[in-house]
Amino acid sequence: MTLSELTALLDAELARARDQIAKVETVADLDEAERAFLGKRSAVATVNQTIKELAPEERPMVGQAVSSYKAAVTELIEARRAVLGDGAAEAVDRLDLTLPGRGLGRGHLHLITQVQQELEEVFLGLGYKVAEGPEVETDFYNFEALNMPQAHPARSMWDTLYVKLGRPEEVVLRTHTSPVQIRVMESRQPPVYTVMPGRCYRRDTLDARHSPVFHQIEGLVVDEGITFGDLAGTIDAFTRAYFGPGHTSRLRPSYFPFTEPSAEFEVTCFVCDGAGCSVCSKTGWLELGGCGMVDPNVFRAVGYDSETYTGFAFGFGLERMAMVRYGVEHIKSFFENDIRFLKQF
Ligand code: DAH
Repeated sequence: MTLSELTALLDAELARARDQIAKVETVADLDEAERAFLGKRSAVATVNQTIKELAPEERPMVGQAVSSYKAAVTELIEARRAVLGDGAAEAVDRLDLTLPGRGLGRGHLHLITQVQQELEEVFLGLGYKVAEGPEVETDFYNFEALNMPQAHPARSMWDTLYVKLGRPEEVVLRTHTSPVQIRVMESRQPPVYTVMPGRCYRRDTLDARHSPVFHQIEGLVVDEGITFGDLAGTIDAFTRAYFGPGHTSRLRPSYFPFTEPSAEFEVTCFVCDGAGCSVCSKTGWLELGGCGMVDPNVFRAVGYDSETYTGFAFGFGLERMAMVRYGVEHIKSFFENDIRFLKQF
């Protein structure tokens, strides 16, 4: 072949390549075209072979024609490869319009649940069990078995919500967790060392310290030889464990139908550490709950022998506990589901 025939051949081949590569629709076909126009059996390979047959002065010109052919075909192939979506090549040209994710904040337990679980831990550490009872109770468990017969004036200590079920005034929303004491004693024989947390209801008007829905934790100990000293010691141990070693408790005479004697227990004020401030009405003490020695009539109601066994009980509000410990001013904060409040704990 002459020099002009060789360059004509390459020109024709380039025209064919331009035509065919433009029609290729898949990456595999493009690879195939690459082999056909640049590979070992391509026209350009044949031209390369014949270079040595040419006169020495003609060789550089053909060599140049060969390399410009190769460059042109390679460019055609790469351009087509980008169009066919060789991923990375394509992405470069696009604008990234993705917005940053909105992110789901991680939730956590409600403050009251945290307080409840922490108190359970304290009592589990003292060897107690944890029990629960129903929120919808019968008159028997909420009042009668707790030494408050029908029409007993002490019932008015609890503003009760009645449920329209059974005989009139037979079913109530429990006004305290004390009925769970009865259920626990019915289900087992002494010794009993149990705490009973749960939700309670009262026909109270909402104010800073009262809510118609709130939580209590009840404690009950029944064993041989249990004394008022055990009660005082237990209250004090729990006060220190929960509020910290700098806090102590005291008991003041009170009245509850299911305990005799009965007491209210108080802890040293959180705000002033006992010095006296507006939160504790200058007394240095904050009232937390009620307690006392289990009344023999309560043992009688569950069939325990009150000659063999004695016991003590206590109960207090979890919201009150949390308010005292964390300085929460209004009880409604616990029920409003305001994320700004919940987030703080
Ligand atoms: N149940 C009482 C209340 O809701 C609190 C209480 C007082 C519970 C004395 C007790 C107790 O177990 O012994 O006001």
